[in-house]
Amino acid sequence: MTSSLLFLFAFLIATVGHASCAPDVPWSQNYVLLYGQDHTQLLNQEKEIQISLDQVSGAGFKSLKAYGSGFFGMRMKLPNKDTTGIITTFYLRSYTNNHDELDFEFLGGKGQNYLLQTNVFTNGQGGREQRISLWFDPTEDFHDYQLIWNQHQVVWFVDGTPIRVFKNNQNIGVSYPVQAMQIEASIWNATWAGEPNWSQAPFQAHYQGFGIDGCPAQLNTIGSECSSPTFEWNVEKYWKLDPQQQMAYEDVRNKHMMYDYCTVGPKAPPECQSNQ
Ligand SMILES: *[C@@H]1O[C@H](CO)[C@@H](O)[C@H](O)[C@H]1NC(C)=O
Ligand SMILES: *[C@@H]1O[C@H](CO)[C@@H](O)[C@H](O)[C@H]1NC(C)=O
Repeated sequence: MTSSLLFLFAFLIATVGHASCAPDVPWSQNYVLLYGQDHTQLLNQEKEIQISLDQVSGAGFKSLKAYGSGFFGMRMKLPNKDTTGIITTFYLRSYTNNHDELDFEFLGGKGQNYLLQTNVFTNGQGGREQRISLWFDPTEDFHDYQLIWNQHQVVWFVDGTPIRVFKNNQNIGVSYPVQAMQIEASIWNATWAGEPNWSQAPFQAHYQGFGIDGCPAQLNTIGSECSSPTFEWNVEKYWKLDPQQQMAYEDVRNKHMMYDYCTVGPKAPPECQSNQ
């Protein structure tokens, strides 16, 4: 093997721990608008969508189907402005009174200073925010933001690197996402995040990658069929991080963690230890 081939091989092992291989399909095959139709633009034969925010409105879209497990991902390019007060998202959620939710939320800031906030709601309870800084400029190009969700763990990935793990800790009384969720994405402004500089509007976010590797299920239901090992993401290989992924994960935690709900209270919530 030549050294460049060896390098490629090592690179593949290090980064593609999870093989999401949903074919790239036009946006409307899997998604519909949630709101903000006139703040939305489909591009490049629907292989890309731009959603935008100004003082009048933001925009959002959602998947046509709900899913009970899977690999879920988007390629995103964030607004290249002063994005103080602006939140660009990609998440899964159900719609019960005690809903489940798995979030990627990009919190804007001065210049290109984004923080990536992740959160987990289980049985209606959130408050599990973690925030990391990114090791690249997310406004310059598209990057992959992905989740795996099976009966054993939820893992958030940035360009194939695990940045967060939420294990199934039901055995120690921690609730776990079990309701079928739909995929959503949006751009909006939140007063708690600061006052946007509206003179810089519109703020435009771009998304690609509309194939979905998920187990379709009725929204809000507990789809027990979705834990079947006939779905690739449910097989043992995906029950926990492999050693290489664990190292990469610890590296991100050491170098990029800016806020962790596990460390703010007098006592860490019961799941924290095992999710490190
Ligand atoms: C977003 O900004 C608009 C215009 O300033 C404001 O009216 C609205 O309340 C903000 N939205 C949220 C959710 O804070
Ligand atoms: C808002 O943006 C405008 C236009 O880029 C800039 O001139 C102004 O200084 C910004 N205001 C603040 C408070 O950053």
